[in-house]
Order: sequence, then C-alpha cells, then structure tokens
Amino acid sequence: MGTRWSTKSTAEHILEQAKAGVMKLKAASIDPHLVVVLVGDDPASHVYVRHKVAACEELGIRSTKIALPADVAADALLSEVMRLNRDASVHGILVQMPLPKHIDCDAVIRAIDPDKDVDGFHPINVGRLALGQPGLFPCTPMGVMALLKQTVTDLSGRRALVIGRSAIVGKPMAHLLLHANCTVTVSHSRTVDHQAVCREADIVIVAVGRPGLVDGGWLKPGSWVVDVGINEIKDPALAEKLLDGKRLDRFRATGRALVGDVNYRSALDVAELVTPVPGGVGKLTIAQLMLNTVTATELQR
Ligand code: GUN
Repeated sequence: MGTRWSTKSTAEHILEQAKAGVMKLKAASIDPHLVVVLVGDDPASHVYVRHKVAACEELGIRSTKIALPADVAADALLSEVMRLNRDASVHGILVQMPLPKHIDCDAVIRAIDPDKDVDGFHPINVGRLALGQPGLFPCTPMGVMALLKQTVTDLSGRRALVIGRSAIVGKPMAHLLLHANCTVTVSHSRTVDHQAVCREADIVIVAVGRPGLVDGGWLKPGSWVVDVGINEIKDPALAEKLLDGKRLDRFRATGRALVGDVNYRSALDVAELVTPVPGGVGKLTIAQLMLNTVTATELQR
C-alpha cells in the first residue's frame, strides 16, 4: 500500500528560493514584475490567473493583469506583447493559454522576448533546454523535477516514463529527466501497449488529460507516480470508479469533481508514492512560476 506524495514541502522550498531572490533583487533596487495577459473569458483560465496573481502578491512580486476581449485582433495582441518586451519595468510575460481560435498561439509565443518568457515556451528556450543550456523552462516539469530531487538525491539510471508528448509538459519533462541521467521513455496516443511500457517504469509522469487513464494494474510495484492531469468529470459511473469517501459524497451532491489522469485509489495499491489531484502538482507549477519570474528578472540585469 503506497502513500500520498505530498508536494507541499517541495513547493515551499521553491517559494523560499524565489523569496530569497526577490529580497536580493529588491536590495539592488530592482522590483521584479510579472505581466499576465488574459484573452477572453475561459473560466478555468481566470481561476489560474487569479492564483498566479495571488502568489505574486504573497511573495512581494509586482504583478499586472492585462485582460483583453475574446475578439481582440491578433495584431493587437502581438503589439501588446511587443510593447511589454520594450518596457524595462516588465521582467516576465505570460500569455495565458488557450487563446481564441483566430489567434496563432505559436506566433504569440515567438513574439515574447525569450528572456521574459517565464513559461519557457519560446523556441529559443525549448532549444536551450534540449541542448542542456541555461534558460527559462516550463514551470510544471521544473516543479516535478524539484519534487523528484527532493525525494531522491540521485536519479541516475532510473527508468522514467512520461505519458503524453505535449510541448508544455511531456517533451520538456523528458528532456529534464534525461539531463538527470534517467532512462527515459515517452508514450503517447500511438503507443502500442501502454501497460507493458508502464510496468517497466520506476517513475511515471502522466500528462494526457484523460481522467483515471493509468490504473494500478499498469504500474510496477513500488513505483513513483506523478499525476499532472486535471480533469472535471460529471459521469457518475466514472466518479464511482475513481472516487471514494467524502469526495464521492461531494460528487453525489454537486454532480462534478476534479480528478487526475491516474486512478489514484488503485494506483496506491501498487505504487509507493502517488501525487494527489487536486492539491498535488498545481502547487509546484505556481511556485516555479515565481522562481522563473525571479530568474527572468536576473537575466535582464
Ligand atoms: N494554460 C494552462 N497551463 C498554462 C501554463 O502553464 N502557461 C500558460 N501561459 N497558459 C497555461
């Protein structure tokens, strides 16, 4: 029987590093400043942005939210990003995704100054990560690495499986694990026999957006599982399968629940450590965004 893998102390450790960086910068009369650009009215994006702004406030990082209407012209958004690039009082720029369909999100990411790209999405930062050079790297994979490194000092030779190949999580995660000398496998929608691949892995990181995809039966006994997924479910049959206790009671009352990509209950029967959803990786992502904002500010000194 495994245990809940708490991310709390790792998130606190990252925040302490960020706080120390903020104090050092302020002592040098530099006021770190993150600008978050939010386009449209996606409810989840509004919640995420609120959390990001609140984290800045807690750490003494100046933040500005720029809200633009869903029908903003692509050129107007690009001009706004370029204005922020030129503004020396702005150290970090984050354009919240997803963007409305009429906007080419790759073009927006390319427009951000790589040294202000706190998300680490710009091709220059993607290249730096692939090559093992210093840069700004995506917050969730960086936070997950901090969790792994706090749990074990040397990851060398461990078999790590990343399920999902997104640019935001899967691909950068694979690079970071490789730099830590793991033997890395990436599985995805075209993988034949996910379970066979999974059963070989000491560390499994799942980021696919499919509620409860990874079942305990897939896992190697004693493995460590990081669940990056966050999915809202409304299907009672799925809720009965994935939830129990108070969470199931709450689902029955409200008709909805947030779950990860891992069947947490069955995973705990086999794995040693499993991060919960909600309350797991999300904390790491926000903490790492604060640290990336400090790093971006330092890059511009
Ligand atoms: N939308 C969901 N996650 C993220 C993220 O990490 N960064 C940005 N910019 N948008 C997101």
